[in-house]
Amino acid sequence: MKIQVINNNVIFNHNNQKIEIHPIWLRERVSGLDHLDKNTNQRLFDPSFLENINIIKASIVKNSLELTFDDGVTSEFEINILIDELLENKNILNIVKKKLWDSSLKNIPEHKFTETFFKSKEMYDLLKSFYTYGFIIIKNVPVTKNYIVKFANSIGNIRQTNFGKYFNVKSVPKPNDLAYTSQALSPHTDNPYRKPVPCIQLLHCIENETSGGLSTLVDGFKVANYLKEQNPNYFEILTKVKIKFKFIDKNIVLENEGTLIELDEKSNIKQVRFSTRLDYTPILNKNELELYYKARKEISTLYNSEKFKIEFKLQSGDLMMMDNYRLLHGRTSFDTSEGKRFLQGCYIDYDSSEGKLRHLERKFKN
Ligand SMILES: [Fe+2]
Repeated sequence: MKIQVINNNVIFNHNNQKIEIHPIWLRERVSGLDHLDKNTNQRLFDPSFLENINIIKASIVKNSLELTFDDGVTSEFEINILIDELLENKNILNIVKKKLWDSSLKNIPEHKFTETFFKSKEMYDLLKSFYTYGFIIIKNVPVTKNYIVKFANSIGNIRQTNFGKYFNVKSVPKPNDLAYTSQALSPHTDNPYRKPVPCIQLLHCIENETSGGLSTLVDGFKVANYLKEQNPNYFEILTKVKIKFKFIDKNIVLENEGTLIELDEKSNIKQVRFSTRLDYTPILNKNELELYYKARKEISTLYNSEKFKIEFKLQSGDLMMMDNYRLLHGRTSFDTSEGKRFLQGCYIDYDSSEGKLRHLERKFKN
């Protein structure tokens, strides 16, 4: 039994450990019309004022835990729902396991566009695939101009920036960013100078008549893990030194800072940043910087190596969705005299993709 009651204490048995669940943790979750608004599922009471709450009566009847608290409140809890929350079983981002990849990735994750697929099972599968690989290519997206805005807003909400709702990727005279030239772009993450950094980039190929201009992708998490195995000292310094990133334009100066490899509180990799034309290292003691510069060179070499990079040509109608916290992207150079190359890009944030995925999860899972 995962949940048991001993002397009015509620015990969660997990991994051969008995964990007592705090009475306030349970009291916060009481349901019923007096405690929970039926329409919004939001609490009708403020649990932050609860203190010295005890359970005075506890029993398990079939799949239900029945509790009476000493402030007079009685409630029933479905045991399966409690266990799902305790184990985070229903957290879709836990369920979708990331598959880290390198240049041996055989099949590029692809889905076919249809006008109605935003609310469909196809979109559910597509978003799971996106979280698995960190990117996805959607084929046959209408190439009418600015369709990308409609596409982004059909998943969630577009993240507008000082570039506007979207940006055009084609070579122009006097560009304010190297993206708008025909030069090769080495693998990078976008806009680390923004606060917060945009989570997901959408890139829609309207036309591509050039033989060059191939898209390149690198799984930054795969590279970071490889570095951790090969050279833990390099990995560690890249998780410690906060780099400043700057973007300077006529009307705006954008700045943010962060580590090249950011870890979460469980030491899992949360985000990579790499944009070597916009980064400014802080002044540290010489030995630390010596190590940092070696580590940066090493990770740069790995990001640019054939071992980790995939390369492919985006065709007219392809729309690529990339996780900007996990993947690096770039392109090979192209010759503008061969023909046109025109892509449109925009950003959305995780609110959009996660919110949509959780919604489709509850729609299609049961
Ligand atoms: Fe970029």
